This record gives sequence, structure tokens and C-alpha cells, in this order.
Amino acid sequence: MGKSWTPDSWKILPAEQQPDWEKSEAYSKVISEISGYPPLVFAGEVRALKQQLGDAAQGNGFLIQGGDCAETFDDFRADSIRDKLKILLQMSVVLTYGASCNVVKLGRIAGQFAKPRSANTETRDGIELPSYRGDAVNDINFNEDSRKQNPKRLLRTYNQSAATLNLLRAFTTGGFADLNKVHVWNQEFIAQSPQGKRYEEIANSIDDALIFMKAVGINSDNTSALKLAEFFTSHEALLLGYEHALTRQDSLTGKWYNCSAHFLWIGDRTRQPNGAHVEFLSGVDNPIGIKVGPTINEEELITLCEKLNPENEWGKLTLISRMGADTVRSKLPPLIKTIKESGQKVLWVCDPMHGNTYKTDNGYKTRHFDTILEELEHFFAIHRAEETIPGGVHFELTGDNVTECLGGAREISDSDLNSRYETACDPRLNNEQSLELAFLVTDLLRNGR
Ligand code: PEP
Ligand code: CO
Repeated sequence: MGKSWTPDSWKILPAEQQPDWEKSEAYSKVISEISGYPPLVFAGEVRALKQQLGDAAQGNGFLIQGGDCAETFDDFRADSIRDKLKILLQMSVVLTYGASCNVVKLGRIAGQFAKPRSANTETRDGIELPSYRGDAVNDINFNEDSRKQNPKRLLRTYNQSAATLNLLRAFTTGGFADLNKVHVWNQEFIAQSPQGKRYEEIANSIDDALIFMKAVGINSDNTSALKLAEFFTSHEALLLGYEHALTRQDSLTGKWYNCSAHFLWIGDRTRQPNGAHVEFLSGVDNPIGIKVGPTINEEELITLCEKLNPENEWGKLTLISRMGADTVRSKLPPLIKTIKESGQKVLWVCDPMHGNTYKTDNGYKTRHFDTILEELEHFFAIHRAEETIPGGVHFELTGDNVTECLGGAREISDSDLNSRYETACDPRLNNEQSLELAFLVTDLLRNGR
């Protein structure tokens, strides 16, 4: 945080990717309303996450961050929230068991409603309309009315985030995430697959361990660690007015927290070192992520680290590399070297999704499982060569059995994409592909030790 930071200091700086609604009366009214709403997360939880991310950065833990590219107002059902939690719990059990390390569970959920776009408009059949910018801003349907920005959508964003978080808290603290429930998370569809069967073997071993522990007096009633209740939320801090409205000063410490989520990240398109996003997030005490794409250079990265983690604290800063399977080999090593030489304390995470998106001949935006895996393999190998720590993964995934990414054990092909292509933005791994990747990441992690 610069000396001159205030919760408002971002306002005089250029902010990319903002809807053009700053001056509207409706927008001001919405923002002032949200400013009075209760916080969604609490400072103590944010500090707990930061501690765990710091541990992961030093090799004592591993981060799984995952969820939708974009949450939507339409897909707002208990089942779909529960299934996203289930797959993240399954993945974390696979990693915890296979690689013997604590897994930090961080959802892209309960606030992931705003999207940066490469183009301001979209043209279909000669008709040009504003791009879809996430349900927080406008509607995805391709007609003039739907694509109009509407600040009232921010109220729904807040309310849906609150309800989603409420359900996640109920599930996790209410015992759904308890290790004794490992079998319950194996959904029918996956249970029949090779991954599901492999998962079931781990679940059986965990059962045996739990029976043994119970016999010697250790159970979830007296040992809270078995409840696996800690689940955290994150989203891209894109719409600065909304994020600002939910930023509050902690009465205990006097520090500022963005209470819209535990963890916020700055996207690859809004990480200008002198821009409003970096300024705003430089003053909050939450752990912060930066998407590190192929256009960044070493100098820029160091400036970002110094601005966003001025006290060089463990757990404060996560660098989310999203280079693409080809580019990662040339772009990532010099960045890792620079960080290492500078002594900056960061957690390195791999997002193998965003650098590997392309359009198929039949017009679907997709990613191939093999390419995703390839970027992960390079990421781990590069860290091994540099003797640095690969501390986590960042996936776009869903608990549903969608067909959006190609490949995986069921070999989803171009012609399968139309059967369940449901994403509002980027293609997500389905439940089976996600679990398969969890096994593969476990192997990469184990081989690296
Ligand atoms: C995203 O995570 O959905 C995203 C837009 O990523 P990036 O900023 O890395 O392109
Ligand atoms: Co995305």
C-alpha cells in the first residue's frame, strides 16, 4: 500500500473494463445501498486463508482454486452449488491422500459475476451489440435489451453471493464436508468411471483410517480437522465500485478488508501497475492474486509485487501463471528467476485453462484436456528445475456432467460439444475431467518431491 492509499484513491486512476455507468444516478443509488449492506466474509476468516496460503507458498500445503468462469443468475440452485463443492472436496481428498499435504480449498464462487472482455462489442449476422460482461453487468442473450448494462444487477450479485455463501457455510460447518462423508461426494455419474472407482479406493482407505482413529478416541466431535470445514471464496475483483462498496475497516486491527470474498484476483487485462485495480487492491489486507499472462515482463511483475505486497508477507500474494502450454516454457522461467532473486514471497499457482482456449470448426470455444495437462506438466517441471515451489492449481470446472472441454477419459470430441455446452463464458472441466486431473496433479506433485 502506498502512503497515500485510501479506499477511494483508485478513483482518479484509469480503470480498464468498467461499464460506462459511473455517472448514472441509478448506479450511485445502488452503490450507496450496497455500502450499507453487511459484509459477506469476515476479517478473521481472511487472515486464516492468508496463513494457509503462506504455508502453501513454503511447500506446506497446496491450493486448489476452482469453479465457474462466470456464475449466472439462472444457474442458482442448491444442487449445482452442492455439486461444485462436492467435486472440489473430492479433488482435495485425492490430493491430500496421494500427496500427503494439506489442501487449501478456494472456490471461484459466491461472487464471480463480472467478466473482462477482449472486445467491447460482439457481431452476429451483421448485428453489433455490446459484449456480455457477466450477469453483474448485463444479460447474455443476444438482443439489444438484454445487452444493456443495468446497475441494479449489482444488487442481485450481492444477494446471490450471500445466499450461495450461506449454503456453502451450512454444508461445510454442518458436517457435509466431514471426512466420514467421503463416499457421499462420489456422484453417481463419476462413481461408474475409472476415476470414480479409483476415488472409491481412497475413500475405503480413509474409512479404515477413521475406524482406527475412532478406536483410539479421535473423531470429528473432538478433532475439528476431520470436518474439513474450511472452504474459502474468491472472484476477480473487476467492478471496482462494487468491490469498494464492500470494503470495510476491521474494528480489531484497523486494517481494511474487501468483504466481498476471502481472496480477490486481478485479471490479465486489468493488471496495469499504475491502474485503478492495482491501486485499490494494494490497500486491502486480503490475500490477492495476479493473473500472469504471456505479455507481462520481469520489471512489471516486480513492480506489481512491490505494490501489492509492500511488506513482503507470506500468503499475501499469489501469482497465477496462465501462459498457454506452448508459451509457458519460454515465458515462465525468467519470471520465476526474477522473483527468486528479488526475494519476493509469493505463492506460484498454475491456471492451465486461460492460455489454451480456441474455437472449434463448429464454433465452440473449447480447451483440450491434453493441452491443459501439458501446461501443468511444464509448470511443475519448470519449478523443479528452478528449485522453487509449485503451490497450487486454478481450474474452471463444474460439478455437472457438461461437455465443454475436449478429451479426458471419456474422450469428448468436437461433435459431443453441443450435447451439454452450458457455460456463460469459458469452457469448464466437467466433474469427471476434474477428478481425473486431480489424480494427475497428485502424480506431478509426488514426483516433484
Ligand atoms: C478468468 O479467470 O476467467 C479470466 C478472465 O482470466 P484471465 O484474466 O487470466 O484472462
Ligand atoms: Co474464464
